[in-house]
Amino acid sequence: MIDSKCSPRYDADTGTLTNPSPGTAVLFRGDTPIALEDAHMDTTTLGRTGFVVSRVGLGLAALGRPGYINLGHSADLRGEHAVPVMEARAHAVLDAAWGAGVRYFDAARSYGRAEEFLAHWLDARGIDPASVTVGSKWGYTYTADWRADAATHEVKEHSLANLRRQTHESRTLLGTHLDLYQIHSATLESGVLADREVLEELARLRAAGLRIGLSVSGPRQGEAIRRALDVIVEGERVFDCVQATWNLLEPSAGPALEQAHTLGVGVIVKEALANGRLTGRNDDPAFAARRRLLEELAARSGTTTDALALAGVLARPWVDVVLSGAATIDQLHSNLAAPAVRWDERIEEAVGSLAETPEDYWSIRARLPWN
Ligand SMILES: NC(=O)c1ccc[n+]([C@@H]2O[C@H](COP(=O)([O-])OP(=O)(O)OC[C@H]3O[C@@H](n4cnc5c(N)ncnc54)[C@H](OP(=O)(O)O)[C@@H]3O)[C@@H](O)[C@H]2O)c1
Repeated sequence: MIDSKCSPRYDADTGTLTNPSPGTAVLFRGDTPIALEDAHMDTTTLGRTGFVVSRVGLGLAALGRPGYINLGHSADLRGEHAVPVMEARAHAVLDAAWGAGVRYFDAARSYGRAEEFLAHWLDARGIDPASVTVGSKWGYTYTADWRADAATHEVKEHSLANLRRQTHESRTLLGTHLDLYQIHSATLESGVLADREVLEELARLRAAGLRIGLSVSGPRQGEAIRRALDVIVEGERVFDCVQATWNLLEPSAGPALEQAHTLGVGVIVKEALANGRLTGRNDDPAFAARRRLLEELAARSGTTTDALALAGVLARPWVDVVLSGAATIDQLHSNLAAPAVRWDERIEEAVGSLAETPEDYWSIRARLPWN
């Protein structure tokens, strides 16, 4: 396990890194550098994609742009939004993740410059496409113009024209590193899961070597997942992987995700920390009693609430990868304690009282401000 004091030498004031190569040590315990190979992270196979992935992946939604909807994003970035500073910060977190054994990275066309930052990092560090799995998403266009206070941050369009345009853009940036291409937030209402033109294009991309996934959001995730599992083109299931929100407050997609797993579809869990609501940053008085319970359970396990919440995801036998959405190296290290947490029946029973109804959960999420 990585010592919480380990950190790459990243100077936030100047945005510079002093030890950026993954071929050499980039993590330190105190003043002692540790070899990357010393870091341990369990891996698994991402369903029928066949990709060998780390159980904890890193999502770049908070790293690729100035504005995001997690509780304290603006505080994490400390007002330092210049593109080179944002890129250096993203690279420092990517280095720390790589050093800890993270081998799945998750981006999207709409995460600002996330694909570009990731592509530069993969190239600069000379990372062989065979040693990492990269997923990205199409379906939303980034419209915030590098502002945290934009009126509209992203625009959804699940058309064939947008699929073709964004596939080209993602491939231009990520080249042969792009392994998995996901519909971004497919819902029943968007109609994309019944759009034959789009589904046939996805089947063509699959036949040409990409693995195809979808992410789902909203109170009807389970229904969308089941609909996706039924999508067949020319006798073949189109979707190799599903990415869904599952956390201690919103576990309703569990049965559908379990079904996906049983059918060999890879399962990636996002928003495991409920956008920061399951961390020490949540000071909402209405959440105080549940926060106390989480803190008690975490303290008894000798860990933090964020690691406990992530461990709760890893305890589901149908989960392949849980995403860390860390915006800083400290958050990443705290998150990466999750695989070492011993999840037992007592914790399982206690966290059962935390869940909200899906409708309440998603209406609270819809009210979180971009910052
Ligand atoms: N529809 C989709 O396809 C979709 C939607 C959402 C996310 N995703 C994917 O899932 C990934 C993770 O999701 P997410 O970031 O939205 O949600 P999340 O994992 O539930 O929340 C991550 C946030 O929690 C906070 N946090 C983490 N560790 C912390 C710590 N130790 N102490 C205090 N705060 C901590 C940070 O937010 P603050 O510091 O800002 O409070 C961090 O950005 C994304 O990067 C993306 O790849 C996909």
